[in-house]
Amino acid sequence: MKNAMMKASSSPPSASISTLDPDRRGSGKRLGGQGTGPEIMCVANQKGGVGKTTTAINLGTGLAAVGRKVLVIDLDPQGNASTGLGIGRDDRTVSSYDVLLGEASLNEAVQRSAIPNLHIVPSRMDLSAAEIELVQVERRTHRLRGALRQDEALADYEAVLIDCPPSLGLLTLNALVAAHSVLVPLQCEFFALEGLSQLLGTIDRVRSNFNPQLRLHGVVLTMYDKRNNLSEQVANDVRACLGDLVYKTVIPRNVRVSEAPSHGKPALLYDYKCPGSRAYIQLASEMLRRMQSRRMAGSV
Ligand SMILES: Nc1ncnc2c1ncn2[C@@H]1O[C@H](COP(=O)(O)OP(=O)(O)O)[C@@H](O)[C@H]1O
Ligand SMILES: [Mg+2]
Repeated sequence: MKNAMMKASSSPPSASISTLDPDRRGSGKRLGGQGTGPEIMCVANQKGGVGKTTTAINLGTGLAAVGRKVLVIDLDPQGNASTGLGIGRDDRTVSSYDVLLGEASLNEAVQRSAIPNLHIVPSRMDLSAAEIELVQVERRTHRLRGALRQDEALADYEAVLIDCPPSLGLLTLNALVAAHSVLVPLQCEFFALEGLSQLLGTIDRVRSNFNPQLRLHGVVLTMYDKRNNLSEQVANDVRACLGDLVYKTVIPRNVRVSEAPSHGKPALLYDYKCPGSRAYIQLASEMLRRMQSRRMAGSV
């Protein structure tokens, strides 16, 4: 077993983000207030470059900013969520690879980020080997579920966001088997709906074979360009197809959002006033409202 560690990031939380944080209860309740344990949500789409990692980082930061205790699990060997939350490569001594392979507990892999209430399980490049190594391991689809559902440390969190790699391989499958729900970032481009129907098919298969509880939480439109007619057309098609499952909040294409990871910061810390940051704050509050009303309707 590797040593437990909870490293504080060297950079202090920015004043601007603290002012967004009026309520830091960290009640250990599931997001939306019902039951114990966190809402475990995969951020998934088998297409690369659609805004999964950006959404995991900035939605997580937005939720943390209003006092929700959030854990981001980086399940992509590229480790962009870890980099974007300021965890340097040398600091990833215990990672999601160790958790999946049973070499460390979840608690041992958790690190603090610069944002109060937001913790991360980082990933390393060796996670790409896990796709192959897991093939020979018992209950290979349930490794993450086992680690998450057994670890008491998880009870402290209200939400877990799993940043998935751009494929529907064994890593994403582990995330879907471990999760309660799936949030799909969708870039408004020509083949978006085709990719979405493939993902919905996978969610259905995981639900019938491994995880009956799994549901589509919703779709968030990312990198929206209002000057582009295609963006609007695709957004209309997705809304016609999925109705209320599509978030009203749309994330605009915004260069400040793409600059933030190179500074090891979420956009919300890098420039909390830019349109992209504002959209992610709005997304976090829409998510909380939706979960609250779902809870009131008794269907969570
Ligand atoms: N709203 C946005 N505006 C501008 N650039 C964005 C936005 N969201 C993401 N990006 C950039 O697009 C690229 C892909 O985003 P990323 O979140 O890494 O996608 P994924 O995780 O799905 O591969 C990254 O360079 C990221 O900085
Ligand atoms: Mg990514």
